[in-house]
Amino acid sequence: MKKQIVLMVATGILFLFFQSFSPEPASEIDFPDEISTILKSSCYDCHSTEAKSEKALKAINFEQWDDYRLTKKIGLLGDICKVVDEGKMPPEKYLEHKPDRKMSEAQKKVLCDWTRQESEKLMQGN
Ligand code: HEC
Repeated sequence: MKKQIVLMVATGILFLFFQSFSPEPASEIDFPDEISTILKSSCYDCHSTEAKSEKALKAINFEQWDDYRLTKKIGLLGDICKVVDEGKMPPEKYLEHKPDRKMSEAQKKVLCDWTRQESEKLMQGN
């Protein structure tokens, strides 16, 4: 009986030990699937944690979205629609190398519509 308890405690400690070493779960952000797909294909190369471009990450890191303050999110949502609509993002140079990352008009619309809905939601406090 005593042995069993020791074993249980040891297993517990071992479990906690390994758990504390397992990598942080990548924060799964609540973008709708459709939006997430667009961002991953056209934006994540520069605006996600793995990206090397400090300038781009300073502007926006989609993987840290949840950490941004409300006002920052709302501001960025407006910027996202604007840069995409104006064709500033993804940058022309990048698209020369990766033409498959170009956004279709339909994707731009989906993204812009979402930014508007999302900022309204945020402004209403949900
Ligand atoms: C090839 C890398 C690259 C890709 C891909 C890319 N960006 Fe950027 N982005 C940058 C860089 C670098 C900056 C900061 C400097 C600048 O404004 O040019 C930036 C800045 C921004 C800004 C800040 C506003 C601004 O005008 O400075 C927004 C918003 C943005 N990007 C959104 C996006 C969105 C949305 C996508 C995908 C549709 C995207 N970016 C794809 C490199 C990229």
